[in-house]
Order: sequence, then C-alpha cells, then structure tokens
Amino acid sequence: MAEPLLQTRGITKSFGALKASDAISLDLRPGEIHALIGPNGAGKSTLIKQIAGNMQPDSGTVHFLGQDVTALDTVARARLGLGRTFQISALAMDFTVLQNAVLGALGARGDVMRFFRPVMKDRTLVARAHEALERVGLQDHAAMRTAELSHGQRRQLEVAVALTLKPKAFLMDEPMAGLGAGGSKRLTGFLDGLRAEAPILLVEHDMDAVFALADRISVLVYGQVIATGTAAEIRANPEVRRAYLGEEDAA
Ligand SMILES: Nc1ncnc2c1ncn2[C@@H]1O[C@H](COP(=O)(O)OP(=O)(O)O)[C@@H](O)[C@H]1O
Ligand SMILES: [Mg+2]
Repeated sequence: MAEPLLQTRGITKSFGALKASDAISLDLRPGEIHALIGPNGAGKSTLIKQIAGNMQPDSGTVHFLGQDVTALDTVARARLGLGRTFQISALAMDFTVLQNAVLGALGARGDVMRFFRPVMKDRTLVARAHEALERVGLQDHAAMRTAELSHGQRRQLEVAVALTLKPKAFLMDEPMAGLGAGGSKRLTGFLDGLRAEAPILLVEHDMDAVFALADRISVLVYGQVIATGTAAEIRANPEVRRAYLGEEDAA
C-alpha cells in the first residue's frame, strides 16, 4: 500500500468540557479522495483546522510528506504543499478574479501585500494564476471584480487560489456548500480529476458527491472516528447507520 502523504496521530482537542477531537488518527494516501463525514458539530472543521495549522491540538501530531509539521503555522504548511480551499471571506471582493489568483500564487513565494502592484507585472506569477483560472473554468472572468461572481464561481475561484500553490495534498471543508446541482456536478467532476495530482481530504455534506468521489470514507461522531472504509463498507456498517444515518435498528 502507498505511503500516506498526510497523517494525523492521536489528535485531541478540547473546548472546555467538550472533546471536539478525540484521539483522531487518519491518513491521506497518494491519488485518493478521503471523505470525512459526520453530523453537524462532530468536529470535522476542528480537525481540518488542526491539520492546516490554524489551530493547535492539545496533543497528537500531524505528519506531512514524512515530516512532523505539528509545530508549523499555516503558511509554512502551505509552502510545503498543503493546499486548502479558503472560506469565501478570504477572497478580496474588490479585487479582480485574476488579482485574487495572483495573491494566491504570491503566498507560495512568501512575498507580501505591499509589493502587490509590481507583482501584477510578474509574468511567472500571472501565468500561474491564469493557468489555475483556466483549470477551474474561470479564464473568461479573469478581469471581473470578484464581488460580481456568482456564489458557485467564487467557490471555483477558491479552488483556483489553492491551485496556484501547486499543492501536493488538499484539505477541503464543504466545497459544495451553497452550490446548485449544476455547480456541484461541475466541482465533483473537477475534484475527480484533481485527485491524481493531489489527494484530497474532503469534508462534505453532499452525500451524492461523497459517495460518487470518495475512495475511502471516515465517519466522525462526537470527535471520534467510528469507521473508515470504502463507500460500500461505510454504507453497510451497522455502527455508522445507527450513529449517523439515524437508523434505529440497523443490525
Ligand atoms: N473555537 C471554538 N471554541 C469552542 N467550541 C468550539 C470551537 N470550535 C468548534 N467548537 C465546538 O466543537 C464542536 C465541533 O465543531 P466543528 O468542528 O465546527 O464541527 P463540524 O465541522 O463537524 O460541524 C462543536 O460542538 C462546536 O460548537
Ligand atoms: Mg464544519
């Protein structure tokens, strides 16, 4: 079996009396989409934040590309190649689509905002930004103000921004949220192709997308991973059906 690119070991995080992450160990292997599902409040976003470096675990470790990155911040992890889709608020609404993509590419080089104007003349960065926009199908919107994009297009732009960093693995927290059927379908198709180049740890509520895409699924309930397996294994797992799918008598 392929060596995991990304691995958490015993990640534990409490908020007061609440254990939001309870000794979570999971991994992401080359080429796969590993979906993380579970009811609201199960601790999915909390785990993603700890893997991305936005939040420190109380205990446990995160390994990426064979390196212990637990002590590194988000920027350092992103530079190593850990990509993450941003929340919509991370996009600068008054900037053009292209400028947002260039800002993303800039993160890879570790430059800073005050050099922004000259940066728009940096052909390498601009080319990389255009390439990312093209991959998500936004090339014709490059000059548009980000505020004028539809919700679905902003989601595409978030993925493009992440792509400019040329990530070796992706973390995505509910990328389909708020997309209509057409948008979800397009994004599903895109993620399907993306996995070969960068595996994805995917938190998603859209079960059609999850079951269509995931090579493996982990189920998180009250901060604990209660099962990991293929879609078929997860569907058939009595504990999952009881705890998550809400069945009274699944046995
Ligand atoms: N910063 C925080 N402070 C206190 N409680 C939090 C914080 N972040 C999340 N929680 C709580 O931790 C639990 C898990 O939240 P979250 O990870 O957002 O769940 P999910 O993404 O699975 O819906 C919830 O009960 C939530 O209220
Ligand atoms: Mg969440």
